Amino acid sequence: MQAMNTHLLLSPTTTVIDRRPNDLFPKKLSSQSSRVNRKGRRSCSVGHKGANGAHNINPSCSIKPEADEDRRNKMDRRNVLIGLGGAGLGLGLDTNLLASGAPIPPPDFSTCGKTTDEVTGLDCCPPTSEVKTPTRFKPVAPPKSSVRTRLAAQNAVKDPDYIKKYRRATELMKGLDVDDPHNFWNQAKVHCSYCDGAFNQNLAGYKCLEIQVHNSWLFFPFHRWYLFFYERILGSLIDDPTFALPFWNWDSPDGMYLPELFELDNGASPLYDHYRNTKHRQKDFLLDLNYSGTDVHQDPKTLIDNNLKTMNRQMNTKDRCVFFGQPYRAGDCPNPGGGNIELIPHNTVHNWTGDPKWLAEDMGKFYSSARDPIFFAHHSNVDRMWHLWLEKIGGKNLEQDDWLNAEFYFYNEKKELVSVNVQDSIDIGILGYAYEDVDIPWLTTKPTARKPANKAKPDGLGLQDQSSAAKGGFSLDSKISIAVPRPKQGVEKAEREEILILRDIKFPSDQGLKFDVYVNDDADTPSQPSQSEFAGSFVHVPHKHVMTFKTNLYLGITRLLKDVGADKAASVVVTLVPRYRNGPVTIGAISIEQSSCD
Ligand code: C2O
Repeated sequence: MQAMNTHLLLSPTTTVIDRRPNDLFPKKLSSQSSRVNRKGRRSCSVGHKGANGAHNINPSCSIKPEADEDRRNKMDRRNVLIGLGGAGLGLGLDTNLLASGAPIPPPDFSTCGKTTDEVTGLDCCPPTSEVKTPTRFKPVAPPKSSVRTRLAAQNAVKDPDYIKKYRRATELMKGLDVDDPHNFWNQAKVHCSYCDGAFNQNLAGYKCLEIQVHNSWLFFPFHRWYLFFYERILGSLIDDPTFALPFWNWDSPDGMYLPELFELDNGASPLYDHYRNTKHRQKDFLLDLNYSGTDVHQDPKTLIDNNLKTMNRQMNTKDRCVFFGQPYRAGDCPNPGGGNIELIPHNTVHNWTGDPKWLAEDMGKFYSSARDPIFFAHHSNVDRMWHLWLEKIGGKNLEQDDWLNAEFYFYNEKKELVSVNVQDSIDIGILGYAYEDVDIPWLTTKPTARKPANKAKPDGLGLQDQSSAAKGGFSLDSKISIAVPRPKQGVEKAEREEILILRDIKFPSDQGLKFDVYVNDDADTPSQPSQSEFAGSFVHVPHKHVMTFKTNLYLGITRLLKDVGADKAASVVVTLVPRYRNGPVTIGAISIEQSSCD
């Protein structure tokens, strides 16, 4: 295989390495005032074509108060799906799937519309010239000799052959024809279209139809498949089926930097992207997994300790909905709530990598993030966390049919449109790849309890007032402490994780937002992420969508309660500290409940 590739690797490189189309260059922050000014007037009737070719008003632009119809029973939904008749079946919905539940249906590439971004929307649609009825892709485990082993980026960079291959494959991908679905910029569009409202579910009668692959249980499987095809396309371009993406090993001190692999040759590499945070690309600049928009000056030892304990905290839950994200089914409004790893470090690393100078593009905005090759190394490690959670933490995959049967469409390495489901993504052995075995230092770095003497007292909101969304919730303008009652311990539920839930978090979607959550913490100084009182954070990666974003935060706190000595307490004091925000943030309700995740 090595020999066969030599001609490719040694072929003269083209002078123009980065053929980023002109319209993909981000504008500088200073020239963006018109967008900000126009946002209030944004029309929601951006051209989404329905299956019948008629323009629909996009119903997902504005989020209306949650109504009971969201929770219609499965039978109801099945009827809606079956009601599509030929159209539904023609779109690849098979009858078994209809009979077993109502997973999110796959998008119809041929009716892809502009995204719900900005005034006119963006064209994120992958090329449609090749669109045919998708065929079902079933992965088959390859022979051992062609398993794709994903290396830690800090190790991959030591192998000149690997660097040559990766660069060559990416260079070829960037140079492909603009109509080619394998073209690097078209691959980036696949991500944009699945996360910025370019696709609607082919359903009628629901107020939320946008397909969204973030902030729910679709997060891990969607991105696993996305990388799977991207990696195989790269491999096919250099004729090496064993080619594997690297992973950005941000969970270990060895990889807590912007990986050198993506910064080689002063930018004369196809793996380089100009739109990365200039400061963070300095050599030896340590990554902060709890990045809050500014670089806090911490000595390296403290920062590494915080990072490792953050990893330990985020990985340490057996609750499947806390880990994977909340259920998201056909007709549900998007963004029911992201899982632990999606929030931190996934979102924080996106935000840390993007450059505020360029409106956080590329990595700090979902629509543009896959234009940076580093995206795929970042997601390779995100995917590795799913794998490690099963292997090292004893986590179990979700078993609901509505998760297992959710489908996505991708172009495979032969440019065929294929459909894949979640079920077929859960075994990386069958998908033909593996991860290099590297140290996992966070496995044994548990946060430690601070148990402050001067505990925060609740301000303002009484126990009842804050517990009901009907009362309009509360605004998160500044630090706030709230007393939250714990559920009565039921015998049968004793093993279920106790979850701190913040429901109906609303804020402008195009703005960054992060707030940290503490339980029984000190009144004056918030804990470090290395301390048990630090429960977690809500982190948003801005979309270009200008709308009210509505989501929920679920934090598993069973271990925390024990560590801080509150496992017998009737209530705890929860302190919320906004770290950055750019507009009004409201929270509908806060509660502690036994997990109802199955
Ligand atoms: Cu689809 Cu890291 O985002």
